[in-house]
Amino acid sequence: MRRGSIASLVGIGLVAGGIAAAVAVALPWLPTPASREASRIDFEFWFVIVICIVIFAVVVAAILYSVINFRAAPDDMSDGPPIHGHTGLEIAWTLIPTLLVTAIGISSAIVLSNDDALGKNVLRINVTAQQFAWTFSYPDAKGLTSATLMLPKDRSVLLTFTSKDVIHSFWVPEFGQKQDTVPGLHPTLHITPDRLGTYPVICTELCGLGHATMRATAIVMAPAAFDKWIAGQTKAVTSPNAGQAGAALFTNNGCAACHTLTAAHATGKVGPDLDKLATYARKAGKPLAAFVRESIVSPNAYVEAGYPKNVMPQTFGTSIPKSQLDSLVTYLTTNGTQ
Ligand code: CUA
Repeated sequence: MRRGSIASLVGIGLVAGGIAAAVAVALPWLPTPASREASRIDFEFWFVIVICIVIFAVVVAAILYSVINFRAAPDDMSDGPPIHGHTGLEIAWTLIPTLLVTAIGISSAIVLSNDDALGKNVLRINVTAQQFAWTFSYPDAKGLTSATLMLPKDRSVLLTFTSKDVIHSFWVPEFGQKQDTVPGLHPTLHITPDRLGTYPVICTELCGLGHATMRATAIVMAPAAFDKWIAGQTKAVTSPNAGQAGAALFTNNGCAACHTLTAAHATGKVGPDLDKLATYARKAGKPLAAFVRESIVSPNAYVEAGYPKNVMPQTFGTSIPKSQLDSLVTYLTTNGTQ
């Protein structure tokens, strides 16, 4: 091979590899990881990308060099010389891909096993998915429920999923993992958040009319702030003052995402305006408190005209303790008086 040929091959390869590397690095393909698991997945991702860029550069160099130098004359219909039996070349193109794929396989297996290894003092959280809401409950905190996924930084968290209806899928892009929630199964997902912040929780499996609205928020807090939140919330929702407990429950369970309620500074427009509960109850021909309870426990019994059926979570009312349901009914009855 002439020295000039090698120089052009290397030159084309460097330009192609440089362009591919620039596209890989300059565009924000992945969010900044917020968990140790996501950082390991990112490492694996870049490991594979670097291999791909090198192969891409070699292939582009060979193709472009051949197109430029070995182009046939317009009316030359003859075939090229047959090439067969270059043992060295065959060993190289078998061995190199074998080594690369094996390396990717081994490093991926290490990442997966590290990601699944629980740390000490695991925080267990039950995640319930239903059309179209996420609920997070903390079994170690007397089953405290929250519509926001509150997490302490640098602690092993094990999420256990339950779906009440169809297949949903849990995804926080910054945590780098997805988990389908399949009715009848209780899959788990291990996360060790390592960056403070607020991140979106997204349902990433088409699950019905309200799929696009099935979002929540994950907040990673300092461990002390998290303990304080747990203590404060536990006290609030079990408060003997039904108004106080009801207000905490209204916020914790994400009611504000869909409903308007002036007392809670809630401005959601998806579901009925809860300031007007008294009016709705009159239309439904029921006493206010009974109407409010029925609307929470079996939302389809009466659906206010102009609002969609089946969007309010059907089993929410039966998934919180009865005393908390009572507090919520009292809170709504006292505030929805228009
Ligand atoms: Cu739940 Cu999409």
